[in-house]
Amino acid sequence: MNKIRVELGERSYTIALGSSILKDLGKSLERFDFSKKAAIVSNPTVYELYGKKLKSSLEDAGFEIIEIILPDGEEYKNLTSVEKIYEQLLKLRFDRRSVLIALGGGVIGDITGYAASTYMRGIDFIQVPTTLLAQVDSSVGGKTGVNHALGKNMIGTFWQPRLVWVDISTLHSLSRRNFLAGIAEIVKYGIIWDSAFFDFLEKKRETLLSLNPDDIIHVIKRSCEIKADVVSRDERESGLRAILNFGHTIGHAIETATGYTTFLHGEAIAIGMHAEAILAHEAGLIGWDEVSRIQHLLKTFGLPTGIPSGIDLSALFGAMKLDKKAVAGDVKFVLPERIGRVRIQGNISDKVVQQAVMKALST
Ligand SMILES: NC(=O)c1ccc[n+]([C@@H]2O[C@H](COP(=O)([O-])OP(=O)(O)OC[C@H]3O[C@@H](n4cnc5c(N)ncnc54)[C@H](O)[C@@H]3O)[C@@H](O)[C@H]2O)c1
Repeated sequence: MNKIRVELGERSYTIALGSSILKDLGKSLERFDFSKKAAIVSNPTVYELYGKKLKSSLEDAGFEIIEIILPDGEEYKNLTSVEKIYEQLLKLRFDRRSVLIALGGGVIGDITGYAASTYMRGIDFIQVPTTLLAQVDSSVGGKTGVNHALGKNMIGTFWQPRLVWVDISTLHSLSRRNFLAGIAEIVKYGIIWDSAFFDFLEKKRETLLSLNPDDIIHVIKRSCEIKADVVSRDERESGLRAILNFGHTIGHAIETATGYTTFLHGEAIAIGMHAEAILAHEAGLIGWDEVSRIQHLLKTFGLPTGIPSGIDLSALFGAMKLDKKAVAGDVKFVLPERIGRVRIQGNISDKVVQQAVMKALST
């Protein structure tokens, strides 16, 4: 089993990574001082696949388990789902030493983390991510939250898990489309932090797509190391952590302008990364050859790279101005200076942004 440490003082934790390790989670919890009451929070899709195995591992370790099964889908990432969790925990008298276990993708992880952070002013939780995106991104770093009718991820907390347990075997049941959405976030780590990792991804298309365990473990491990490194230096996003949002300013705007119905998050981020690389070129930061390499790698994995030509451009530009990183209307972009290094850049004129977006429109 591979282990990566997220160093955050007393909130530090381990990301454990391996193949067929779901059955071992129960035993590994013996070193924590949890009470024996635990709730697995999941959805019907994932629970059907992996719930039993996880539950028996925990029961074998002496835990009394309840299951809280929420409906599957981003539209249920809201306070109603959180309320359902609270209700079960209160009815069954969960106390401050009880633990929540999030079994699922980013949606389940974000909801469970938020519920854990607010129930009785905060109880422990464990992430058992089952999508590639959750394994390389959302389960690590402590951002929790739910959507509000007026905005995505607008209600949330920073609340670190006590442990992240990544079993790559769960990827076998994941749809190809959701798998590729996770690849987009992996490509992001190469662009923002590690050019050798980007080179590796260029060479490993086939083995990654065929879920070669060694290569899959390598890319998840390296992604988690990079995220852990960034988060350890800036837990609450007062500076450096914002680089993890590369591709997200335009990517989120695309999601908003298309009503969250056209693209998966990772797909929108792939388009956003390509568009922001073009923007970096328009701003004189990066050569066109590097922009082409970024586009080529994304395309190689079958990810979209062009902004859809039918998009409502005023809605797109409007959504960019609402980006969480904008300060007094000035949108801060994360822009690559070369593959492996980005900078945070404000004061980019609307004209330059518009030129880049026009260049990024798919024809
Ligand atoms: N907290 C963070 O730092 C952070 C970072 C990035 C994204 N997010 C959030 O993550 C969410 C997206 O996460 P996601 O892409 O994992 O989506 P998701 O949780 O909706 O999962 C995608 C689909 O795959 C199914 N699924 C999950 N694991 C499976 C498996 N092993 N086999 C078969 N099906 C499986 C799910 O039931 C769902 O239908 C968004 O809400 C986004 O805001 C959070």
